[in-house]
Amino acid sequence: MIPIEPRPTLAGRNAVVTGGASGIGEACARKLFSLGCTVVISDVNVERGHAVVQELMGSTEEGSSSKAIFIETDMSQGEETKQFAQTVLKTLGTVHILVNCAGIQTVSPIESFPEERFRLMNELMLVAPFLLTQAFLPSMYEAKWGRIVNIGSIHSLVASPAKVAYVMFKHALVGLTKSTAVEGGPHGVTANCICPSYVRTPLVEKQIADQAIIRGIPESEVIEKVMLPSNCVIRRLLEPNEVAELCAFLCSDAAQCITGSEQKIDCGWTSQ
Ligand SMILES: NC(=O)c1ccc[n+]([C@@H]2O[C@H](COP(=O)([O-])OP(=O)(O)OC[C@H]3O[C@@H](n4cnc5c(N)ncnc54)[C@H](O)[C@@H]3O)[C@@H](O)[C@H]2O)c1
Repeated sequence: MIPIEPRPTLAGRNAVVTGGASGIGEACARKLFSLGCTVVISDVNVERGHAVVQELMGSTEEGSSSKAIFIETDMSQGEETKQFAQTVLKTLGTVHILVNCAGIQTVSPIESFPEERFRLMNELMLVAPFLLTQAFLPSMYEAKWGRIVNIGSIHSLVASPAKVAYVMFKHALVGLTKSTAVEGGPHGVTANCICPSYVRTPLVEKQIADQAIIRGIPESEVIEKVMLPSNCVIRRLLEPNEVAELCAFLCSDAAQCITGSEQKIDCGWTSQ
């Protein structure tokens, strides 16, 4: 029998969560912190980033190994992203867990999709996860333990209209996940991609207005008609902490043989 901690603990692990100031990233950072990690949150939202860290540090119990740090970084800027990684390695020595979560959305048909926005999304949602994986893998290899969780989407697996860049880069994130899994496996490093359907976050709230304009329907109909297609058998939006729970499980010892996977939390979206 392989020994598995009865109650998952990640005490003493160092984790980096990009986009950790809001939504899914914030929920993952909070969960990893609660399990004893030192969590580095990076984001462009400085005010929220500091607020989350302050709240977490204010909640530490005596004897807890958890720490939280915020580092402002624009992950769409390659040099800034590489500098961030070097700062983290210099500060913590080793990064055991990387959660690539920072992301944005643009809703527009292909023929009018703004090229600048396409390139920005590529840098943020694909190049940055690659650069961070590249930067942190050596320290994971040295530790003979590592967990990379890429926050993909149901749009890593299927397309929806007016989301060409998002669908392309989220699909490619699965390729990064599988490549990392294949190379990292012999070194004790797993890589997995979580693929959620719609989650109630600020990113989705903004889309409700955009979708209403593009489809010519009232905002009140967007959730029911666009975000919950008829094949969603569970008819509700996900909550960020549901994604964070899966993220934490993938970081646990119990998940040491789950790697290269696309983990759907999709209310049945892709089952029929
Ligand atoms: N909300 C959903 O329905 C849903 C579903 C599937 C996947 N996702 C994915 O989850 C991830 C998080 O999305 P969310 O819904 O929590 O959104 P969110 O807007 O709440 O959080 C995204 C975070 O990324 C940060 N960010 C944006 N641009 C950045 C940049 N240039 N550099 C650094 N940080 C930047 C934002 O400031 C924000 O804090 C995204 O990758 C998204 O694609 C979301």
